[in-house]
Amino acid sequence: MDRIRIRGGNKLNGVINISGAKNAALPLMIIPMLTADTVTLHNVPRLADVRQLQRILQNHGVDIMTAGKRAGAAENAGETLKISAKSIVDTTAPYELVSKMRASFWVLGPLMGRMGEAKVSLPGGCAIGTRPVDLLLLAMEKLGAEMVIEQGYVIAKAKKGLKGGHIFFPKVSVGATHVALMAAVLAHGDTTIENAATEPEITDVAECLVKMGAKIEGIGTRNLNITGVTSLHGAEHTVVADRIETGTYAMLAGMAGGDVTLRGARADTLADVILTLQRAGLEITTNNEGMRVKRNGSGILPVDVTTDPYPGFPTDLQAQFMGLMTMAKGKSHIRETIFENRFMHVQELARFGADIRVNGNMAEVHGVQKLTGADVMATDLRASVSLVIAALAAEGETMLHRVYHLDRGFEDLEGKLSAVGADVTRISGA
Ligand code: EPZ
Repeated sequence: MDRIRIRGGNKLNGVINISGAKNAALPLMIIPMLTADTVTLHNVPRLADVRQLQRILQNHGVDIMTAGKRAGAAENAGETLKISAKSIVDTTAPYELVSKMRASFWVLGPLMGRMGEAKVSLPGGCAIGTRPVDLLLLAMEKLGAEMVIEQGYVIAKAKKGLKGGHIFFPKVSVGATHVALMAAVLAHGDTTIENAATEPEITDVAECLVKMGAKIEGIGTRNLNITGVTSLHGAEHTVVADRIETGTYAMLAGMAGGDVTLRGARADTLADVILTLQRAGLEITTNNEGMRVKRNGSGILPVDVTTDPYPGFPTDLQAQFMGLMTMAKGKSHIRETIFENRFMHVQELARFGADIRVNGNMAEVHGVQKLTGADVMATDLRASVSLVIAALAAEGETMLHRVYHLDRGFEDLEGKLSAVGADVTRISGA
C-alpha cells in the first residue's frame, strides 16, 4: 500500500488548481442512465471513486469514453467523459461493487425512473457511521415503487412506471434528495420534495438535468417541484469546483503559513467556511481567479464550530478544521451533528502531540505550541487529510499510511502540495 512522507516546516506559496467536485461528479455520472443519448461531462476529477463508479455503470451496460483534452483547455483541467446509456442491459447492482462505493446505491433512482425495476445491494455502513438508506427508500415509495428487502438487496418494481407524489424528508439527506430527483424527472405527473438538501452539488446535478430536458423548479432551495417528462436527451455539463477540496487547501495553507491562490475555487459555495477561517486568523480574499489565502501574523485563533447541512459548516471539513485547531492559541469546541462516528482522526492527531478531549459528539481541542512528526494511519477519506494538515506544521517527518483513503477524494494531493513548496513524497509500496 502506498504511503506519503511529509517533512513539516515549509510554507506554501503559489497557485493550486481546484478540481471538479467528487460529490457532484458521482451523481452527474449516474444521471445519464436516464436517457439513451450521450451526456458529456467536463472537469471530472481523477479519483478512485470516479473509476470505481465507471466500473459499476459499465456493469449496467453504460458506455463511458474518456475524451482527450479539449483544445485550449488548461493543462490541469479535469477529464472529459462521454457517457451513453443507449440501453440498460442489467438492472442489478451487485454487493461486490456497491459495497466499495456507497454512492453507487443511487443508481436505484435512474433504474426505477427509466426501467421501472431495480435490484440494488444495500451499501452497508462505513468508518464514519451506519449510513442508513431509509430516506432514499421513503422517496422511492412515495413515487409508487413497490420494494422488498431480501438477502441484503433492495428489490424494487413499478410496473406502470413511477408516478409523481409528495416527498417530505424528516431529516435533510443529500443522497435521498439526489435519488428523489433522479426518479421524479421521468415519473408520470408532478412531484414535490419538501426539506430537500441544498448542497451546491445537488444544484449542479439539477442544472444538468434541466439541460437534459427535465422540468425542475426551486433549484437551490429546500422545496423542489418536478414535472415529470416522457424522456430526457443528451447534454454537455462542466462539473462544479470542489468546495471541500477548496476548504481543505485553505486550511493546509492556513496551517503551514504562506500565500496561496486556489484557482477555480467557487467562494460563493463556502460562505460559512470562509467566515470561520477568517475568524481563525486566515486572510481570505476572493477574485475572478478564485480564492487567495494568506496567514496573517496573528497566528491561528481558536474558533468553535458545529457541523450542519448546507449552508452550514460542512461535516466533510470537520476533520480538516480540527487539524488546524490543534495549534490554535487557545481552546476550541467542534461538534459533529451529521455522522455518529466522525472523530476517528482524533487518536491519530494525538500521535503528533495534539491535545483533544472527546465527549460524545463534541471534541474540545486545546491548542499546543508544537506538533512532532509521527507514523499515522488514514482511517477515512476526510480524516486522512486532517493528518496532512498537522504534518505540514509538525517538526520532523511524518509517514502517512493507508493512503488509498486519500486517493478516493483528493486528486494528486502530493503533486498539488509539492508544487507550492511542501516537502511531500508518495512512496509506492506493496
Ligand atoms: C453525502 O453523503 C456525501 N457523499 C458525504 O460526503 C457527506 O458527508 C454527506 O452527504 C453529508 O453532507 C456524497 O455526496 C457521495 P446524507 P450521504 O444522506 O448522502 C442520515 C465525503 O467525504 N441518513 O446527507 O450519504 C445519515 O446517516 C462523503 O465525500 C439517514 O438517516 O449523506 C447522516 O446522519 C462522506 N437515512 C445524515 O442523514 C438516510 O436514508 C446525512 O446523510 C440517509 C441519510
